[in-house]
Amino acid sequence: MSRRRAGFGSFISLALFLAACSGGTSPSPSTATSGGASAGATTAGEPEDTLTVLCTPQEDWCQAMVAAFQEETGIETSYVRLSSGEAFARLQAGADNPEFSVWWGGPADAFVAANEEGLIEPYDSPNREAIADDQKGADGIWTGVYVGALGFCSNTAVLEELGVEVPTSWDELTAPELEGQVAMAHPASSGTAYTAFYTQVLRLGGEDEAIEFMQELHPNILQYTSSGAAPAEMAGRGEIGVSVVFSHDCVRNIEAGFTDLEVSFPEEGTGYEIGGVALVAGAPEPNAAKMWIDWSLTAEAQEIGATVDSFQLPTNPDAAVPEESVNLDEVNLVDYDFQAAGEAREALTARFEDEVAAKPAE
Ligand code: G6P
Repeated sequence: MSRRRAGFGSFISLALFLAACSGGTSPSPSTATSGGASAGATTAGEPEDTLTVLCTPQEDWCQAMVAAFQEETGIETSYVRLSSGEAFARLQAGADNPEFSVWWGGPADAFVAANEEGLIEPYDSPNREAIADDQKGADGIWTGVYVGALGFCSNTAVLEELGVEVPTSWDELTAPELEGQVAMAHPASSGTAYTAFYTQVLRLGGEDEAIEFMQELHPNILQYTSSGAAPAEMAGRGEIGVSVVFSHDCVRNIEAGFTDLEVSFPEEGTGYEIGGVALVAGAPEPNAAKMWIDWSLTAEAQEIGATVDSFQLPTNPDAAVPEESVNLDEVNLVDYDFQAAGEAREALTARFEDEVAAKPAE
């Protein structure tokens, strides 16, 4: 592991790395098995004995985080892994009687959308100070815990057979040679896919234009998955030529042995995520949840990702950045506005369902 400051203010000098496969959904909370020690410093009051985390990144990262937190605090901690859109829907459904206390991971625009509906509430963790201003929402609503850029994850062997180059632009994805050879998740269920969709709004200058692009891409889409990272695995297995995923999800699969995979970025500009953490409104375990938020902003907690091949960029500048990092200096990033993207989320995903494709069945 190399130590490298990951200042975001200069996303320019971002290092990326990436990885990963999707995680399946845990139907009911999975509990860490380790025992516990004493609680760390926090401004929260006396913590409850248990904590239930709504967890959006890969399953193994959720497991590792929950086990480490339980070990650190002695709080019996469990989680349910759900993609961003599914997590949001589950919070909506449980608004009157919340089952989760803290939501960790997934692009920040879903947190903005949740805040619009009063599903999360502010918590001004003392550890927010370490996080750059452009990596956290106003008034303690959400705080960034990692960063990653969207890219293409291609199977070079499949593309060679098709006589198609590894794509370096969004428009290349619509080539007729790629009919049925592309996969991405569905924006209504996946934060990854919503990032890809909203990136079109930004680069093309409007919602109608973004819908039009997605309609042009549609014949090439073999499958809209529920989970954002799943298409990288499909590309790894050679089921498709190109997947649209966070680039760390591609690197993770390369590390796992899918050596035909290659990461590329669209030169017109690509979107990125700031993975967030937030307190659930009316949380049944508010103090334990605040303790999780404090902890998840520390360098120590943010270095857990790399131990399970989740190579997102940490937001805490003291956290080590893995050697698998990809330097984003040469990646053209769109000026992603998480507040605007979050506010537009409900209406835009409904339009996608009506005008492009229905949400996949679970
Ligand atoms: C993958 C990525 C994460 C991202 C998450 C969003 O797990 O590795 O960086 O935050 O996807 O999940 P979703 O399934 O909603 O796209």
